[in-house]
Amino acid sequence: MFLRRVTLLKEKITDFQTYPFTIAAIRELESLPIDHPVTFFVGENGTGKSTLLEAIAYQCGFNTAGGGRNHAHEVDSSDAALGDFIRLSWMPKITQGFFLRAESFYHFATYLDQLAKDDPKFDYQGYGGKSLHQQSHGESFLSLFLNRFGGKGIYLLDEPEAALSPARQLTFLRIIHQLVSEKNAQFIIATHSPILLGYPNANIYSFDSAPIASINYEDTEPYQLTKLFLNRRDKFLEELFRDDEE
Ligand SMILES: Nc1ncnc2c1ncn2[C@@H]1O[C@H](COP(=O)(O)OP(=O)(O)OP(=O)(O)O)[C@@H](O)[C@H]1O
Ligand SMILES: [Mg+2]
Repeated sequence: MFLRRVTLLKEKITDFQTYPFTIAAIRELESLPIDHPVTFFVGENGTGKSTLLEAIAYQCGFNTAGGGRNHAHEVDSSDAALGDFIRLSWMPKITQGFFLRAESFYHFATYLDQLAKDDPKFDYQGYGGKSLHQQSHGESFLSLFLNRFGGKGIYLLDEPEAALSPARQLTFLRIIHQLVSEKNAQFIIATHSPILLGYPNANIYSFDSAPIASINYEDTEPYQLTKLFLNRRDKFLEELFRDDEE
């Protein structure tokens, strides 16, 4: 693994009343150790997971709309509000890797099509040999992993499960396992998926508390709610709908 620590540069912050410092987990960030090859960001919607992930991508020099270092497409790239207020500590420093948001994957696919249009020699090598738009969401996503994510690097993924069926999420766990054990890859993944969170020996950071804290798999909400739902669906739904009866 390569990235060891994310530190908030408190002395640079002048205004705690505006985004992103209105988010409790971000405001109270001090120094977050990254000490496992696979780190998850988990927490309720709006707790700051994407904000921090995007800031890390920005500091890595990756396109914040999704992509690696040399992907200069502008579509939806945001200014990474937090980017200039964190410091990354590396050992060793690497530059290879990728930032991927499920929501901007479509634009990334379009960007590759544009590259192919501009350069006849561009053959989608690294992307499964054909336009990502000609593959399904899940297929193109796995293509990217199997082809482009071949080597050592740091992979920052925002809700990758959005593209993947449960079976493909398992395939994806296996790909992570192979990349971590054979290629020394590092992953930081924001997710709500109880399947992905089950990756063994990962560190799970919860953004539900401020400051951000490590929690056990079994204590995550995706795990607990899914378990409750699956174990006792009738009872669960009965309670959920109880106040709706007229
Ligand atoms: N550009 C922005 N300007 C102002 N507020 C923002 C901006 N981007 C996000 N926010 C707010 O910051 C908070 C954290 O957003 P963020 O996207 O980091 O959450 P998240 O943990 O990734 O949530 P989710 O699980 O829904 O993806 C939210 O309340 C959101 O509305
Ligand atoms: Mg998010």
